[in-house]
Amino acid sequence: MTADVTSVTAPAQAEPVALAAFEALVRARRATRHFLPDPVPDNLLARILDAARWAPSGYNLQPTHIFIARDARLRAALVPACMGQSQILEAPLTLVFAGDRRVRPAHFERVLEMERAAGNLPEHYEARLRGVVPLAFDRGPLGLAAAIKAVFAPLRRLLLPTPAIPALDMRFWLAKQAMLSAMNTMLAATAAGLATVPMEGFDGGRARRALRIPRRFEILLLMPIGYAAPGTLTKTRLPLSGLVHELPMVDRSASRP
Ligand SMILES: Cc1cc2nc3c(=O)[nH]c(=O)nc-3n(C[C@H](O)[C@H](O)[C@H](O)COP(=O)(O)O)c2cc1C
Repeated sequence: MTADVTSVTAPAQAEPVALAAFEALVRARRATRHFLPDPVPDNLLARILDAARWAPSGYNLQPTHIFIARDARLRAALVPACMGQSQILEAPLTLVFAGDRRVRPAHFERVLEMERAAGNLPEHYEARLRGVVPLAFDRGPLGLAAAIKAVFAPLRRLLLPTPAIPALDMRFWLAKQAMLSAMNTMLAATAAGLATVPMEGFDGGRARRALRIPRRFEILLLMPIGYAAPGTLTKTRLPLSGLVHELPMVDRSASRP
């Protein structure tokens, strides 16, 4: 499952049974806080991380990096940054989902090259990407370009539709990308009989220093992973009808708590 190119031919050929299996998988995933000490087999871990790689990302820039905290002392050092959450000690591994603030210089040309080689980059699209991506991502020396964008984006928005600019809120952009990889990871882990817990309860700066991760990486989510300790984990969800809204909205009371 590690090939770097994948093709899908539309229309999708999925059988209804695939959806039923997926629904069962989605419901079987539980945020798990107690783990057995048993290690995660390397072959399963590799497949789970590969599922993370196949998550979508904006412009296919693939900014999400996953650091593996396996060493017990390293995990112990991380716990205080997570307000003492002990699942990090119990699980044999913690995956650290981080976003690369320098993804534009790091990946853009490589991704263009790969897409071109795969016959997936018409000239007009490449030209568009070469215009849009630097505009959206580059902060310039001393953040000067970002400062200019911060002034002009709201003015431009008065006249023209203007999307959010990653250069102005990189953490937000990186978090969106990383969460998609994280979800793939959690579902793949569930399919492999493993358990996970996504964690945002940590101090980013302290976690980065405890794990000795370079500053260019923004830590976005921690995810202990391992075999669940015996026990039943039950969860509830609000009714779908209160969370899904047909547009245009007729009953505006739905927007009130
Ligand atoms: C972004 C995010 C951050 C979370 N942070 C924590 C955390 O720091 N510690 C924790 O024990 N659980 C954390 N959770 C787990 C949630 O409490 C859990 O997903 C929720 O109660 C629903 O339960 P379920 O995942 O078993 O369906 C987090 C979940 C998400 C999606």
